[in-house]
Amino acid sequence: MHSNGTSDGAVKRGHAVYPGSFDPPTNGHLDVIERAAAVFGTVTVAVVVNPQKRSPLFTLAERDEMLVSCTKSMPNVRVEHFRGLLADYVKRIDADVIVKGLRVVSDFENEMAFAHMNRSLSSVDTMFLMSDASYSFVSSSLIKEVYLQGGDIAKYVPEVVLEFMQHKRTTNGRK
Ligand code: PNS
Repeated sequence: MHSNGTSDGAVKRGHAVYPGSFDPPTNGHLDVIERAAAVFGTVTVAVVVNPQKRSPLFTLAERDEMLVSCTKSMPNVRVEHFRGLLADYVKRIDADVIVKGLRVVSDFENEMAFAHMNRSLSSVDTMFLMSDASYSFVSSSLIKEVYLQGGDIAKYVPEVVLEFMQHKRTTNGRK
């Protein structure tokens, strides 16, 4: 187990993996990362390579850059990529726990099956953080849809993501 002392004297233990597509990262993701980083010694934000989802808006390098930028104030957070099964990845990096955010009850059905499968394959448990209520409707896909149709998403994403989105809209010739 990893352990880190904190300025208030508390010792945070364990290595948590927070996996996702992060296409793009939202304030909801960042909230989960911050809360996980307050509990665990190390948090690895793990960006999945080649997700089932077709044609992501952002490249892996772009998602990596956005995540590194918006987590730079958290010294116990690092950003990595993984390919293939999450269960294999968490075993490979010797993680103690998978962390996921739950926004609404309907998230739970899929996540329960994922948690059981991942534990069955790797013996690594999944711990859930309830998303902050103010982000319960915020998802990467909705952010992309609203933004690319000209809507204001500034309060739902970190500043760096907004900049990347603006660049994407310009270079895609949309809006
Ligand atoms: O942000 P997302 O798209 O909801 O993240 C989904 C993710 C990456 C957590 C999930 O698709 C995943 O774990 N993919 C890796 C492949 C895998 O292990 N599949 C079996 C899950 S039990």
